Amino acid sequence: MLNTKLFTCLFAVSFASLAVAQDRSTAQVKAAFEKAKIPQDLHIKFNPEFLLDVTFPQPGGQSVPVSAGIVLPRSETAGPPQFAIGNDFGLEIGQRFVIAAVDPDAPTPQNTSLAQIRHFVGSDFVFKSGKISVERPLKNLTVPVSPWLQPSPPAGSDPHRYIFLIYRQPKGFDNQTVVTPGGGDAALEHFDVAAFAKETNLGNPIAGTFIIVSPDACESIITI
Ligand SMILES: *[C@@H]1O[C@H](CO)[C@@H](O)[C@H](O)[C@H]1NC(C)=O
Ligand SMILES: *[C@@H]1O[C@H](CO)[C@@H](O)[C@H](O)[C@H]1NC(C)=O
Ligand SMILES: *[C@@H]1O[C@H](CO)[C@@H](O)[C@H](O)[C@H]1NC(C)=O
Repeated sequence: MLNTKLFTCLFAVSFASLAVAQDRSTAQVKAAFEKAKIPQDLHIKFNPEFLLDVTFPQPGGQSVPVSAGIVLPRSETAGPPQFAIGNDFGLEIGQRFVIAAVDPDAPTPQNTSLAQIRHFVGSDFVFKSGKISVERPLKNLTVPVSPWLQPSPPAGSDPHRYIFLIYRQPKGFDNQTVVTPGGGDAALEHFDVAAFAKETNLGNPIAGTFIIVSPDACESIITI
């Protein structure tokens, strides 16, 4: 049991060393999504037009940047994450965006009876400044309807994928009633981001990224 667990943990850590910097090409992100079987598991069409840069602020330390498929210790994912758009060569200044994050591996990648868990839905993301540059930070003009939920895969589970998707926000989106605030943990279970996008006219995601997080127990095994 311990050996299997140790192997899983070491495996996850060896993955981490492959991805150190933020992504620089949409082709790289698309390939990472396909390798991790995300489009098929989420039933989405994923043809990123630009990069979604996600960063996790750390208390009293340097923020942790995400590249697609990076393995992060749970402790670094408290968030809420910050978002930026990279390699954008055609978005309108006044454009608003919706960002969603889901876990398709709950309670475990082998038993997904609770999936997807909704980890975030926020709308009214706009560019912080109108300046065109390589990376353009986003800010939200309204409170997220489903605030950031820190990854917490259950003890003994293999690592989970946490997937971020960004969409162009259609007019009237904030009147949607598919996702509403409150309802506790149960309200976050059995979410379907593709169905949500369809019901609220979001279309296909235009960028995305993902992180991989192991249960806390994994970290204690690694430090032995
Ligand atoms: C799958 O997970 C659910 C929720 O935790 C649990 O109730 C169920 O027994 C699990 N099924 C199997 C086959 O392990
Ligand atoms: C933006 O989102 C954060 C949480 O992610 C929230 O605390 C903040 O109030 C939101 N900003 C506005 C202007 O609503
Ligand atoms: C959204 O709801 C508000 C308040 O109920 C209403 O004034 C507005 O017209 C609605 N917008 C759309 C696009 O449906």
